[in-house]
Amino acid sequence: MMIELALNILDLVENSIKAKASFIEITLDESTINDILTLKITDNGQGMDNDFAQSIKSPFITTRTTRRVGLGIPFIRQITEMCEGEFKIASEKGKGTKLEAVMKNSHIDRPPIGDIAGAIRSLIVLNPDIDFKFTYKKDNSDYSIDSREWKEVLGEVPINSLDVQKLLKKDINEGLKNLGR
Ligand SMILES: Nc1ncnc2c1ncn2[C@@H]1O[C@H](COP(=O)(O)OP(=O)(O)O)[C@@H](O)[C@H]1O
Ligand SMILES: [Mg+2]
Repeated sequence: MMIELALNILDLVENSIKAKASFIEITLDESTINDILTLKITDNGQGMDNDFAQSIKSPFITTRTTRRVGLGIPFIRQITEMCEGEFKIASEKGKGTKLEAVMKNSHIDRPPIGDIAGAIRSLIVLNPDIDFKFTYKKDNSDYSIDSREWKEVLGEVPINSLDVQKLLKKDINEGLKNLGR
């Protein structure tokens, strides 16, 4: 079974949420010209020692006691390596963490992106106290959504209210559709 990148992203963002991040930025950059797909996830959570951050690329390091197989950092690292790319992690205790996964876009092992619109909407709606910025770049075009901007406009109206959920869905789906997704 091939795991979609959207599910991987949800799993990686779960790490940021557990690390008590209040702001999480997710960027997907698809360059058909350079044939490269880059995923970046940046958070302002509690971070970790750089030595530990480098060690978790190996499949056996976790601070949790039970784990699902096939997700997490070792998995995304493995995907990048299969796809002639590379995986980088940089972290600083008390400051946050940055992940960058680069893949050859047309590589046969490059997982499908999957339902990224649904993933981003769920993150925003299910974590109303955390802010998210999501950007999807495709060559020279891009779409971006920033929950901080939405919350400012919404004022007292909760970002997870049903009407807002519908607006979020429309905005993200149309934004990505305009980029050919
Ligand atoms: N964004 C992050 N901020 C702080 N710690 C992190 C972050 N991402 C990963 N970690 C640490 O690395 C470990 C391994 O992460 P992961 O590969 O996703 O496996 P798991 O979440 O199942 O432990 C986590 O348990 C956590 O201690
Ligand atoms: Mg994890």
